[in-house]
Amino acid sequence: MLDLFIFSGNAHPRLAEDIAAYLHSPLRRRILDRFADGEIRVEIGENVRGRDCFVIQPTCGSPSATVNDNLMELLTMVDALRRASARRVTAVVPYFGYARQDRKDKPRVPITAKLVANLLTRAGLDRLLTLDLHAGQIQGYFDIPVDNLLPRPLFLRELNNFDPAELVIVAPDAGSAKINRSYADRLDCGFAIVDKSRYSTDASKALTLIGEVEGRHCFIIDDIVSTGGTMVNAARLLSERGAKSVRAAVTHGVFAGKAYEKLADSVFTEFIVTDSIPLRPGGPGIIRTISVAKLMGEAIRRTHYDLSISVLFN
Ligand code: R5P
Repeated sequence: MLDLFIFSGNAHPRLAEDIAAYLHSPLRRRILDRFADGEIRVEIGENVRGRDCFVIQPTCGSPSATVNDNLMELLTMVDALRRASARRVTAVVPYFGYARQDRKDKPRVPITAKLVANLLTRAGLDRLLTLDLHAGQIQGYFDIPVDNLLPRPLFLRELNNFDPAELVIVAPDAGSAKINRSYADRLDCGFAIVDKSRYSTDASKALTLIGEVEGRHCFIIDDIVSTGGTMVNAARLLSERGAKSVRAAVTHGVFAGKAYEKLADSVFTEFIVTDSIPLRPGGPGIIRTISVAKLMGEAIRRTHYDLSISVLFN
């Protein structure tokens, strides 16, 4: 058994259990409940003096809690561990909420991703281990080490099942072009970009397609699916341009609002998503989940033993 202490918040106990199983290290005792007025109450149930502590908590919404509840729970757990004299506290945040608010794109708006980084750091965090940050530069919002894992090895395993001559990797918007091109280069297959225009936080339109998809299998890769608009619109455009089939691989399945209904009515034949966020029940049959437990678990093990984690990117 490793000399590390793993704690889980309430956001995604199943993933925390899978990570703990991979590490052959139990989830440690803690009390997480509410006062009558809704305030979060945290109590660490074990002596953590001098221990290397990891708190697993995606800051997503979950069936019984909001994004803010889960964030606050993480902050209070970090504070409790710090005050209990843990040697090091690492937050393991498979989905980093508020990451899309990463810049001041118009006057008088906050940079909430930076605010969250400040809160975590001030709570006493030593390190952050996360997955596929919406914008890589969010690492720079922290003055502590940040490891931003990528789902690349998991997605490549899926993509390797296709003949490169018949495959096109599709970026659903200009922002994701670089990462999608790197998949296409690695696989030596086709590449296309959808020109997306966003009207509001929750509404976008796929305008134009750059690249050839006729008669080929298309794979759209993105970091987040929220309302599903980006993905469903891109898939429709690909189908109209003669794609043989359209699939998706997405890291974070937020599935907000009517996302499930949109996907159920879409042209997708398969929609792969990782378990960085617990899936709401009732999703359409095309959704298939792949687990990041081993990837995150191995990153925790390597962090604990001060080993390089760059091997996990290949
Ligand atoms: C945008 O830049 C992101 O990478 C996703 O494409 C976006 O958050 C998806 O949102 P929705 O599913 O609501 O279209």
